Amino acid sequence: MTQVLRSVVTGVGGYLPDEIVTNDDLAKIVDTSDEWIIERTGIRRRHRAAADQAVSDLAVEAARKALEAAGRTPQDVDLIIVATTTPDLTFPAAATIVQRKLGCPVGTAFDLQAVCSGFVYALSVADGFVARGRARCALVIGAETMTRLMDWTDRGTCVLFGDGAGAVVLEPQTGEGTTADRGLLGFALRADGTKQDLLYVDGGVSTTGQIGHLRMQGNQVFRHAVVNISEAIFAAAKDAGVEVGEVDWFIPHQANQRILEGVARRVGIDESKVVTTVSEHANTSAASIPLAWWQAVQDGRIKPGQLLLLEAMGGGLTWGACVVRF
Ligand code: UT7
Repeated sequence: MTQVLRSVVTGVGGYLPDEIVTNDDLAKIVDTSDEWIIERTGIRRRHRAAADQAVSDLAVEAARKALEAAGRTPQDVDLIIVATTTPDLTFPAAATIVQRKLGCPVGTAFDLQAVCSGFVYALSVADGFVARGRARCALVIGAETMTRLMDWTDRGTCVLFGDGAGAVVLEPQTGEGTTADRGLLGFALRADGTKQDLLYVDGGVSTTGQIGHLRMQGNQVFRHAVVNISEAIFAAAKDAGVEVGEVDWFIPHQANQRILEGVARRVGIDESKVVTTVSEHANTSAASIPLAWWQAVQDGRIKPGQLLLLEAMGGGLTWGACVVRF
């Protein structure tokens, strides 16, 4: 029997800042309404980081919970990847700040920037370390303070995003090379730089020297999302050697209730298998998948051994999917 090293998710954690911003709160600052936001997006509220909370603070809280769930301590960690669009500083990476704050020993730590697809991309990169025996205990974190990128006069974007962090611990375990193995089983990662203008931030270190604000042609992104994510889902399932119909839980990026339902319908996943948190968290970019995963583990829906399908799409445009047996 073939023996293969798999990257197994041994713990999941999440963190949401205390402050909750409702749709009615936003209706006081832009021309919108609770009804419009719920009908078009499914979003009811979002969390916002306190002024003194940086993305690394959110990441550390999520990482602590993931390590606890895995029965590991910061001393065990030898790889940290933080998927983020909103790092504390231009440099160093949020990952090395997280390493310092957690008190992890010298190891590998870096950030990964693929916007809302960052967590799926980061899992794939971490798999390259863990499943090749180059890391024994990896923290893969999606953490964002998206509210810091908002133009609070643009009702088309400022109602859509929230702050939060989610994390998983990945550890190597020997499998038999079948789809019954626990671990990351398959990926499909995509990018199309020609679609930059649909979703981007109008500032940056080497252009304006300013942070900038998020700009989006929402309906164009929407159109792109359903079709292209579906292709990546089928490709990831093929890479894993499974059928989409075998999936126990679908954990989509939480951008819009209508998008995630549309994708589920298109790939033939029953709505009872879809994990949704968009109503409570809004779009937390790279944090949305691990946060939803964490919540569904917490409430007992997702159990070890089950087959999970993750997908995301964001600025770049980037998108991708991952099949994992938890
Ligand atoms: O994670 C990154 C990926 N991002 C996404 O997946 C987001 C994808 N896009 C979407 O979720 C949706 O396109 C939105 C929720 C952003 C917008 O919904 P839509 O149904 O596509 O609306 P629209 O952009 O076509 O705009 C329809 C109308 C416009 O008014 P007019 O021009 O028809 O008079 C907008 O000005 O809705 C207006 N509108 C709003 N009205 C009230 C836009 N935002 C708002 C708002 N409140 N917050």
